[in-house]
Amino acid sequence: MKKDIQISYEQYQSSNELAEIEKELYLKAKEARENAYAPYSQFFVGCAVLLENGDIHVGNNQENAAYPSGLCAERTAMFWISANFPDENIEKVFVVGGPKELSLTRAPIPPCGACRQSMMEYESKQNKNITLYFANLNDEVIKVNAIKDLLPFYFDGTFL
Ligand code: THU
Repeated sequence: MKKDIQISYEQYQSSNELAEIEKELYLKAKEARENAYAPYSQFFVGCAVLLENGDIHVGNNQENAAYPSGLCAERTAMFWISANFPDENIEKVFVVGGPKELSLTRAPIPPCGACRQSMMEYESKQNKNITLYFANLNDEVIKVNAIKDLLPFYFDGTFL
């Protein structure tokens, strides 16, 4: 039996089309990107996370001379939040990334597979969708309604 999976997402040509809180997250993620430690890839990523209590926390990618020891912006932010505010639900995650050289900017950068899996863990834990936004430096934004939308057949604790 053939089955299909469909996801829907929203695409914005400009962050001006976003709601105020979304714009704020976009700006915070962009700001956090400025502090990324990415001397090896020169690819700078910032992430802003809105908690249910209204607080916003940020992260950015942290690279290492031993390459695999580094960490993406999304996981840097998520692990900080889970370590320090373990009882707070996560509402929205906004990711902004791109190379230092603006002319090399491509489409909005989606979270890598490992970050999707890590974010999925918290979405499952809180049993409430996390809205995800990702953007490039040309102000183009994509919005998806849940982490699981980007991770069909996700693996989580219910299988253990
Ligand atoms: N990176 C992120 O921080 N988030 C993503 O979603 C994609 C990739 C980082 C990892 C590495 O420091 C650099 O971007 C290049 O892969």
